[in-house]
Amino acid sequence: MAHAGIIGIGSYLPEKVLTNQDLEEIVETSDEWIRTRTGMRERHIAAPDQSASDLAFIAAQAALETAGIAADQLDAVVLATVCPDYLFPSTACVLQDKLGAKKAGAFDLSAGCAGFASALSVADAYIKSGMMENILVVGVEVLSRVTNWEDRNTCVLFGDGAGAAVVSAVDEEGLLADFIKADGSGGPFLIQPAGGSANPATHETVDKKMHYVHMSGQDVFKSAVRAMVEGARAVLEQAGFQSEDIDLLVPHQANIRIIEAVRKRLDVPPERAFVNIERQANTSAATIPICLDEAYRSGRLNRGDLVCTTTFGAGFAWAANLLRWII
Ligand code: UT7
Repeated sequence: MAHAGIIGIGSYLPEKVLTNQDLEEIVETSDEWIRTRTGMRERHIAAPDQSASDLAFIAAQAALETAGIAADQLDAVVLATVCPDYLFPSTACVLQDKLGAKKAGAFDLSAGCAGFASALSVADAYIKSGMMENILVVGVEVLSRVTNWEDRNTCVLFGDGAGAAVVSAVDEEGLLADFIKADGSGGPFLIQPAGGSANPATHETVDKKMHYVHMSGQDVFKSAVRAMVEGARAVLEQAGFQSEDIDLLVPHQANIRIIEAVRKRLDVPPERAFVNIERQANTSAATIPICLDEAYRSGRLNRGDLVCTTTFGAGFAWAANLLRWII
């Protein structure tokens, strides 16, 4: 069986930074509340003329450059998002065209904040089956477009950004194990209720602000910790490792309290857990590749390191990956 591994990584955060102080001007909140309850200080917001595919394009170019391959060598573009350019065509197809990935197939994957980790499992399987050799896996979100800027329960939590990885057939073992799981009964706790076939866009749905993110924070919080621990333990067990073998835990960045609870339950010391929630807040499907890129470029992630990602989000859907860093 062929081995699969990440051979290129890249990310992009839009220029505009929105701080907690800026949010104090918009809704009744405080820097102190946001910092102590979430760990967030600032987040990036896309410019009005930037769509998901624009953010993804910049991240993808950086990933291809690190990988040292051209876009026309890609066999597929798998793009995870809940903020597509359009409901259809897929953002993956828009990106495929912008990149000039002429021989690639392309599709979007919707698994909320678990999107990138799920997409990585798809790429892993395609490559290990021998069907493909080079796949671009993207996580991108422009959550600012579906945020209700009058709802303090949600508008302080999210940021925009994109991350991309080139996953290729390689000689050494890169991707070691993947895990995906879902509990659709949790759907109503984190949902954009309108705009799809259940509640198509009408004046009424717009008036009722049903095209924005609606979240029951505490319900999501409770399930997140349990599920993210389950995912990490599952991939470790599949590949025959213990949590003490992890060189870098890369958890989804939704809340510093969730990250800390997951880290402690897995018995991973703080220096082996990657945290950048302060600066980028929750970028949903973009979070994991942005973290991997930042960790790699800052020297936190080195060739040979054992990396465990673990994620949880809308669905509920959760996913994890265990990989050897081979760049
Ligand atoms: O990425 C997908 C997964 N998403 C998550 O994992 C998110 C999980 N949930 C969370 O991270 C947390 O539940 C939140 C950060 C969303 C909320 O924190 P919490 O500690 O669960 O707060 P809460 O919702 O119980 O609200 C506590 C209080 C409420 O006031 P009362 O009713 O006690 O008077 C809220 O109205 O805090 C109030 N509150 C705020 N106050 C100031 C809620 N949002 C704000 C705010 N600023 N932005």
